[in-house]
Amino acid sequence: MTKPISLIPTHQTRPAEDPIFGLNAEATERRARGESVVNATVGALLHDDGRLAVLPSSVRAVHEVPAEEWAAYAPIAGTPGFNKAVIASLFAKRPELAAKAVAVATPGGSGALRHAIANYLEPGQALLTSSYFWGPYATLADEGERGVTTFPMFTPEGRLDLASFEEGLDRVMTAQKRVLLMINDPCHNPTGYSMNDEEWKQVAEVLSRHAERGPLTLLVDTAYIAYGARDFSATVLDAVAPLIGKMSVLFAWSASKTFTHYGLRVGALIAMVDDPRERAMTEAALSYSSRGTWSNCNRGGLAAITRMLTDQVIVPALDAERAQLQQLLDQRVAVFNREAKNAGLRYPRYEGGFFVTVFHEDSAAKARQMKEGGVFVVPQRAPAGEKLGALRVALCSVAEKDVPRVVASLSS
Ligand SMILES: Cc1ncc(COP(=O)(O)O)c(C=O)c1O
Repeated sequence: MTKPISLIPTHQTRPAEDPIFGLNAEATERRARGESVVNATVGALLHDDGRLAVLPSSVRAVHEVPAEEWAAYAPIAGTPGFNKAVIASLFAKRPELAAKAVAVATPGGSGALRHAIANYLEPGQALLTSSYFWGPYATLADEGERGVTTFPMFTPEGRLDLASFEEGLDRVMTAQKRVLLMINDPCHNPTGYSMNDEEWKQVAEVLSRHAERGPLTLLVDTAYIAYGARDFSATVLDAVAPLIGKMSVLFAWSASKTFTHYGLRVGALIAMVDDPRERAMTEAALSYSSRGTWSNCNRGGLAAITRMLTDQVIVPALDAERAQLQQLLDQRVAVFNREAKNAGLRYPRYEGGFFVTVFHEDSAAKARQMKEGGVFVVPQRAPAGEKLGALRVALCSVAEKDVPRVVASLSS
C-alpha cells in the first residue's frame, strides 16, 4: 500500500524552484563552461568584474559586533536601539513624524511585507498593487492565505496611470470594505519607475478621497530608498504625511540593498498611527506576529545595522562608499537610456535603480531567444487585461561594457 501524500492538497503543487534563481543557475553554469554570457537576472549590485559590491564600512561594522551580541536572543520586537535608529533615519528631515511611528524589526523587507499582509487584510482578501510588481508579493500573500489584485500601472504614454489606480482602489474598497495598497517606490522592481513629487501628491489625494470608506492602509516598500534619484522626504513623506490620522501609513524598510548586506536579513515595518491607543494596539499586534512566525531577529545583525545608522564615523564613511556604488549604477543607467532610446525600445521613465523593464508582446519567447544568444533577462507575462508582457533587466548585475549587448539583444 502506498502512503498517502501528507502535504495538504493546496501545498502539493507548489513550484519547486523560484524562476529567477533557476535562470541565474543556468546562466552561471553556461558561463562556467566558457560561454560568453551576460546575466541580467541577479537582484544584487555587482561590480563590473562580477564580484558582489559590498560597502567596506558595513563589513567593518558587522565584524566588530561582539560575540555575545551574535549569540544572544534579541527582544521579540527588535532591540530598542535598532527600532529607534530606523525611525530616526527614515524621518531625519521630518523629525516630528517620529512621534507617531512604531517599528518592529523583521528579517529583511520581506518580513515587513509579511507582517503588513497578515495584520491589515482579513484571510481571503487581496492586497492591491500595480500590474507590474515584484513576484514575491504574490507568494507572500498566498502563503498568508491572502491574494493580490492589481490596477494597470501605466498609461499608453508610459506614465503612472492614476485613473486606473483610483478605479482599482474603488473596486477593492467596494468589494472588501478594506484596502491594503502596496507601492514599491523609489526604483520600482521590476519596472525601474520612480514616482515624482506630482505623482505622489496625486496618489495621496486619491487616497484621501477614499479614506473614510473603510480601513485604508498604504504600504510604501522602500527596499531601494538609497538608490532613488529624488529626496525621499520631499517626494514621498511630504505627500503622505497629511494622510496620517485619516488612514494607516506603513513603510517596509530593508537593510539589504542600503547596506549591501542581503544575507544579514535585517529589516523593519514602520507604522504611522496618529491615535496613541491605536498605536499601542499596533505595536502589540506586530510584536505578536513576530512571536508567531520567526520569534525574534538576528541580534548581531540588528546591532551591526544600528551602528551603520548611528555611528558618527561609520555613517559618513558609508555615505561616501555608497555614492561610489551609485555612480557605478548611474553610468550603466546612462548607457542603457542612450542605447535603448536609439534602438526604439519601449520602457517607462528610468532615472536609476537596480532594474528596468522593457515591454514586449511575447516576453517569454523573447527571453528564450535572448537566452540562446547568451543574454539572460527575466520574462513576465502580460498582466491580466493588458497586452504587453515585460522583460526585467537587472542592470545592477551587468557590467557597463555589456549594456549595449543587452540592448542589442532586446531589440533584435
Ligand atoms: C521590491 C522589493 N521589496 C522588498 C524586497 C525585500 O528584500 P529583503 O527581504 O532582502 O530585505 C526586495 C528584494 O529584492 C524587493 O525587490
